[in-house]
Amino acid sequence: MALRRRALLFLLLLPMFRYRILAVELYSTNVNPIVQEFRRAELSCIITTTKTLSPRIEWKKIGSKETTYVYFDSKLQGDWANRAELNSRTSLIIHNVTRADKGIYRCEVVAKEDARIGAEININLTVHVKPVAPKCRVPQSVPVGKSATLHCQEKEGFPEPTYRWYRNDETLPLDSKTNSKFQNSSFTVNPKTGTLVFSEVQKGDTGRYSCKATNAVGDAWCEALEMEIYDLNIAGIVGGVMVVLAVLLLTTVGICCAYRKGLFVKKKQNGNSYKTPAKPDGVNYIRTDEEGDFRHKSSFVI
Ligand SMILES: *[C@@H]1O[C@H](CO)[C@@H](O)[C@H](O)[C@H]1NC(C)=O
Ligand SMILES: *[C@@H]1O[C@H](CO)[C@@H](O)[C@H](O)[C@H]1NC(C)=O
Ligand SMILES: *[C@@H]1O[C@H](CO)[C@@H](O)[C@H](O)[C@H]1NC(C)=O
Repeated sequence: MALRRRALLFLLLLPMFRYRILAVELYSTNVNPIVQEFRRAELSCIITTTKTLSPRIEWKKIGSKETTYVYFDSKLQGDWANRAELNSRTSLIIHNVTRADKGIYRCEVVAKEDARIGAEININLTVHVKPVAPKCRVPQSVPVGKSATLHCQEKEGFPEPTYRWYRNDETLPLDSKTNSKFQNSSFTVNPKTGTLVFSEVQKGDTGRYSCKATNAVGDAWCEALEMEIYDLNIAGIVGGVMVVLAVLLLTTVGICCAYRKGLFVKKKQNGNSYKTPAKPDGVNYIRTDEEGDFRHKSSFVI
């Protein structure tokens, strides 16, 4: 009974086995290879079954606009001849991939003597690119209490890099509130866009800022740039202006007094023939300041 059933099953399945044996079939160890730029890429395509001795093998690159032949008529086409080779009859090896090589490649096999003569497999090649030095923009000087935004951007890297900011070579947290070391600052970093935003800069935010772009295959820095925070408080300005005014006033008063004393002294001078009666211009009095002082005292005594 059991034997008959097994025989029956075998008879039912036989056409399927026959079909399988007679069809060309493909297999890939990796249909989504990810390779770093300038490295070797293997686009795996393996014939698992065929009874055709020399099946026709083709590789195409499937573009969004046009499809180009990579391997056709038993030959690598165009510059692929210098850049690639076939491995184990059907797999495609690219010696030195560039970012332009990313995309879909189709391995097609036609086996004329098989029942089902054609098979194909798509390989999606991803090329990772190291970031280059990002472009950084840092305001040179900002008054205390104002907001400030620092920018960092890198455009070559793939996958898109994430960003970190550094001040005087020290990593800045994504949010100043999360680290007591930065309690006197108020900033946030957006690691995706690369911006560092200060809501209100403080004196302590002065420093050399640099940024690092990082992705799966590498990282790169921008040169550190100085940001200086200067005081711009009203009290300070008013105080400063008042000091300047006071100095001006004192100087004026001083010159006035000196001039008046000078006139007085000049009369005396003339009387005593004590000095050549030089032109009594202001310069003279400034030059003989000590003398004037002395005269002042003596005249006071008199
Ligand atoms: C790979 O290609 C790049 C640019 O096409 C070239 O600069 C580099 O030297 C090549 N590397 C190797 C190992 O051939
Ligand atoms: C190829 O792989 C990339 C990265 O995984 C993916 O973004 C893209 O959609 C894939 N393309 C196709 C056509 O499947
Ligand atoms: C923050 O500012 C206060 C007051 O100015 C100061 O005493 C303290 O040391 C500062 N903290 C840091 C971490 O710089």
